[in-house]
Parts: sequence; C-alpha cells; structure tokens
Amino acid sequence: MFYGGDYNPEQWPEPVWREDLALMRAAGVTVVTVGVFAWSVLEPSPGRYAFGWLDTVLDGLAGAGIRVALATPTAAPPPWFSRRHPETLPVGPDGIRRSPGSRDTYCASAPAYRAAARRLAGALAERYRRHPALALWRVHNEYGTTCHCDLTADAFRGWLERRYGSLDALNDAWTTTFWSQRYGDWAEILPPRTTQYLPNPAQVLDFRRFTSDELLDAYREQRDVLRTVAPGVPVTTNFVLGDWVPVDHLRWSREVDLVAVDHYPAESGPAAEEEAAFLADLARGWALDGTGRPDWLLMETAPNLVYTRGRMHAKEPGRMTRHALAAVARGSRGAMFFQWRAPRGGAEVFHAAMVPHAGAETRVHREAAALGATLARTAELLDAAVEARVAVGFHEPSQWALDATVLPSSAVDHRTEARLAHRALARGGLTCDVVGGLDGLSRYAVLVLPCWYLLTDEQSATLAGWVTGGGRLVATYLTGVADDRARVHPGGRAGALRELLGVRLEEVHPLAEGAGRALSGGASGSLWSETVHLTGADATIRYEDGRPAVTRHRVGSGEAWYLSTRLDDEAYVALLGAVAEGAGVLPRRPPPPAGVEVVRRTRDGRGWLVAINHGERPYDLRADGLDLLTGEAVTAGDPLRPGAAVVVREGAGP
Ligand code: GAL
Ligand code: ZN
Repeated sequence: MFYGGDYNPEQWPEPVWREDLALMRAAGVTVVTVGVFAWSVLEPSPGRYAFGWLDTVLDGLAGAGIRVALATPTAAPPPWFSRRHPETLPVGPDGIRRSPGSRDTYCASAPAYRAAARRLAGALAERYRRHPALALWRVHNEYGTTCHCDLTADAFRGWLERRYGSLDALNDAWTTTFWSQRYGDWAEILPPRTTQYLPNPAQVLDFRRFTSDELLDAYREQRDVLRTVAPGVPVTTNFVLGDWVPVDHLRWSREVDLVAVDHYPAESGPAAEEEAAFLADLARGWALDGTGRPDWLLMETAPNLVYTRGRMHAKEPGRMTRHALAAVARGSRGAMFFQWRAPRGGAEVFHAAMVPHAGAETRVHREAAALGATLARTAELLDAAVEARVAVGFHEPSQWALDATVLPSSAVDHRTEARLAHRALARGGLTCDVVGGLDGLSRYAVLVLPCWYLLTDEQSATLAGWVTGGGRLVATYLTGVADDRARVHPGGRAGALRELLGVRLEEVHPLAEGAGRALSGGASGSLWSETVHLTGADATIRYEDGRPAVTRHRVGSGEAWYLSTRLDDEAYVALLGAVAEGAGVLPRRPPPPAGVEVVRRTRDGRGWLVAINHGERPYDLRADGLDLLTGEAVTAGDPLRPGAAVVVREGAGP
C-alpha cells in the first residue's frame, strides 16, 4: 500500500533528513514523492546539475525501506530559466505575460520549455533508473496551466487545422456567421483572449480541448523519455479537478500507468465525505476506462486543515484516517498526503503537514503515524473490484461547454448535478462508478446522465443500443442538447436523444433561487423546469398543472427516463432506487444513514465490506467475518461506533 506524502528535503538541512527518516520509519511510510518543486536546486544554473543531495536522500530512503515516487520538477521553472527564456512564461487572457515568482510559470507550447522538460526527465532517469528506492515516476505536478501567447496561438491553429481540415469546416463548426466572425485566414484565429463582449463558446470549448491535448503532449514527451531510459518503471502524473483545470482526464487516463489524483475537498462539513466519495468513484471510473483495472491512487490530500471560504478548519481527530480508508474502500492503492513536513516559509506556510510546525509530538502526527499500520492491513483489497452496477456520467467537455455558454440559468452546473446524482444513489444504498465516457456501458444496468450537454448522434445511437438491450438510462434536463461543437441539435433540446426518451422539449422555465415547483406525489422540483410533450414516453411525475415533469419510455427491454427538473433529495433517491430495482439492481442492505459509507469489494469469489461511520450514531452493520483492521471477528449485531471503520473479510476461514 502507498502511504506517505510529498517530501521536500531540499527545504531543510541534513540533520532534519535524519529525523525525517526515523519518523517515517516509525510511521510505516512506504512511499514518498520527492523533487516536485526542486528544479532550482537540481539545476542551479543552466546545464549544471546538482544531484548530490538527491543521491543522499534517495540512498537514505532506500536504506530505511522507503520507496520513492520520483517527480520531474517541471511545474516550477527556476528564475534563471524564465529570465533566459521569457517566452516560456504564460500569458493571461488579457495578453499580459505573467512574471516569475510563483509556480506553474510555464507555457506548454514554448519549444524551449518542452526541450528543458525532456532534458530534465532524461537526466533524472539516467541517474536514478537503477536506484533501489525508485518505485514510480511522477511527471510534473497537476498539469493545468493555460497560456494565451503567440506560440500557443500558432499551436492552436495547427490543432484546429488537423481537427477541421479546412477553414470552411471550422467556420461551420464555430458558427462564425454569428456576429460576423467568419475567418478567411488561419492566421486570424486566436486563443480566446479577453474580448469586448461574450466570446464564441465553440472557440472557448475547442481551446480547452486544445490545451488539454497540448499539455498531454508535454506529459507524453516526458513519459516517453522516462520509459526509454528507465524501462519498466511505471509513470504517472497527479490529476486535479477544478474549474481552472483544462484537462480531459478521461483521455489522460489512457496515457498513465496508474491513475493518480489529488483531492482537497472544498467543504469542511459532512459534504466533504460525499465529495471525497464522488471523486474516488470518478478516479476509479477513469482507471477502469484507462487501465482496465479498478485501482488508482490518492496521491495528495491534506492531513489536517481544510481551506473553506477564507478559513482553515481542522479535521477532527480520526477524520484523516477515515478519509484515507474511504479512498481505499473505493479503490485507492493507499493514501498519500501533501505534505510530509510543514515548511518554514513560502506561499503555503500554513498548509497542513504530517509533521506540523509543532513537530512530531502532536495529535496530527500521532494520527498520521498510526495510519501507516492501518493501511498496511488493508493490502488484500488491492485489485478487488468495487461492486457497482450503476454509473453516473461526468463529462468534462460538457462542463466546459456549459461554462462557456450563456444558459437560461447560470445556476446550472454539470459538476453539481453529477454530485447530486451520486449522492442520491449513495443515500439509496447503491455504490456507483462515475464514468467520463460511454465505452464501458455493458458493465452497468443503470446510467445517470446529469446535464451531459454534448452528445453526438453516434453516442446517442450507442445509448439507444444499450437501452434497447435492457439498460436503464436516466437523463436530466440539458442532456444531449448540443453536438460536440456545442451546436444545438435542431428540433427541440435533447435532439439526439429525443427519440430514445420519447419526448419533445418545447420550452424551458428556469426557476428563481430558492423557488420550487410542486410535483405530483408530494415531491418538488427546483432550479429548472420545462414544457415536455410525450411522444412515446409516459409521465411518472407531473407538475402541478398536470404537465409531464419526469417521463419514462420503454424501449426494447430497457427504459429511458427524462428528468425535466431537479428533484428534491427524497424524490431523487426514491426515483433512482426504483429505476435500479426495475433493472434488478437492489442494494445488498438497507441504505445506511447519512454519514455512513459501506462499499463492497470482490475478487475471485471472495468479498470484503468496508464500512466507515463518519456520523454520530452507532450503525448496525450486520456483517460476519474478520475485521482486517483489528484482526478480530465481527458478527452481525456488533455496532459500528461513530468515528469507527472496519474492513471485513466476509465469511469464515483464514
Ligand atoms: C496541490 C499541489 C500541492 C500543494 C497543495 C496545497 O494542488 O499539488 O503542491 O500546493 O495543492 O493544497
Ligand atoms: Zn504560451
């Protein structure tokens, strides 16, 4: 199991390294990430490498039996590099070049930067390819810098030429006849820099896709150097989710040997656990798509303080451990933290650490130190499948298109709707995969597409085939509205899906904040509502005025459902539960109360139950088997105490 964190020995004198090693060994640390932001120390001046300190660090770690995710330091070019190659500094949408003095000061389209990144990866690989500590390459850190410079503009044009072939095709795809934007020369096309008024959403969407591909090329170049020089060592890069991240992680998942994600919940209350569960199920969805295996790695998370709305909140005792186990429950190969030791200065001086400023004699360090042994006991979960017959779609390009478009309601957000669907399933006792694509549908009996805005005719046909064969599709409003160029399918929204859904959507009525619409059966809808005409479907829930709100269309041996409004929690849980039940997917146990997570893993006919009680009341787990965390038998009737977790190997036997 991976247990450790980002380790920055370059910030400390050698005596501290010795203390670090002793503390890590005592804590059962197995892997640390080294060198993420060490470029200026590794290459203090052009072409002059200083590997001595890193040799000592890696030798010390190897001696202590600790392995290393060796990072390439390319996310933070040093001042000399930026000074020498000013064109590698990113340019904002305002056209202003950013100055050195922080991190992520790179432009992925700048040849000098790309060359330096390849060179550094090569130098590290040459030096350490046979080092016994080397377990994994971690390329870069959280790829995500967008640049709007002239070099980027050139690269963008090249990407567009490859995508569209001709200016006519591009003009058509971008609907440039709107507002007189027709391009007559490739050279006229720019990245979406700050404009006088609203930009062209198709241009914004394509620029995000381009940026994702450009960054991916930069990653691949480093990966390929590492693979050539150090064959057999797995390569990854840490993903992060956020509005600012122009990365299509589904595609990237196919280029890494292990999907690794960073997770910093934006919430400090109970929603943090729901958010963490969503992200974990999403990471597993990427892993299933990319590597074909369910396992992934929580590469960074905070051991303590969570930054929410201008305040740092401490994680209560036990919460770090529960979060780590929750990730492991959902397929992570362990838990790694940012960071090992709190820095004395720098931009993140108050960020949480496994060794806080107050040192090892602290609550946080003691909890971190105990976690090593805890995680080690869960090792037999590795590669066990997570039982999930239900999926929720999360499509980053749809999110980008929705972000780039002026919608009838600015409150609509694909991320939020995906989270709500995930939560409703969880509350109904159903574990789901969160999937970014439609390639693996055969794994699932039920698929929820929440505001999955972009859908090609081909994808609609895939969905239709799957439904006809017995799948249960639940599409919410704003699903399938536009093609992959963000052009609305004609004939009423959900164009491509209309036939499958058996509805015609005539008009939208966004709802004011806090406003609701009463629905039949005592439910209520919020945020959005529509005029829906039935063209084959029947209405299962209606608006007060009798018009259809939720519809079901039986097609072949499956069903296609449409939700024209955001259902209240209770109604959503009930509806998804009923759809799943109709598909023969029943929760194995009564849905756990809020704050309790239960995930079942299986491998070769063997089952494990991971249960975590984040709540305040004991939970009746009703499981029989051996708790791997304590080594003791668990029998039905043993309550799971508040704050406790168990990993139960089901059944009797060793
Ligand atoms: C991560 C990043 C780390 C650190 C951390 C702070 O996104 O990879 O280097 O900055 O955030 O929360
Ligand atoms: Zn640039």
